[in-house]
Amino acid sequence: MHSTADASPFRRLDDDRPAVSFTYDGETVIARVGDSIAAALLAAGVISFRDTAVSGAPRSPYCLMGVCFECLVEIDGVGNRQACQTEVREGMRVRHQLGARAVVGGEG
Ligand code: FES
Repeated sequence: MHSTADASPFRRLDDDRPAVSFTYDGETVIARVGDSIAAALLAAGVISFRDTAVSGAPRSPYCLMGVCFECLVEIDGVGNRQACQTEVREGMRVRHQLGARAVVGGEG
């Protein structure tokens, strides 16, 4: 993972929602039912969700409301998914998105 929960500037409020786990780049993340992937990753200390297609610069969620597309990740093998608009589900496999997503059947 790219950071740790201890380093996260985000803190969870106490709540009694059930836990749900998913993986991010192969590491287990414990979230709460109802969390968006973006909220769960930020709370877990993940800062960069993707690298840009042109320069490879790291990007982080910005608007958290579906407008900026800075939170794109790969979810269960499908790229360009908005982490802020997708609720966590048990067993999801989320990955950092490196550059542009691959086009199925295309080159590169
Ligand atoms: S953080 Fe802006 S679209 Fe997800």
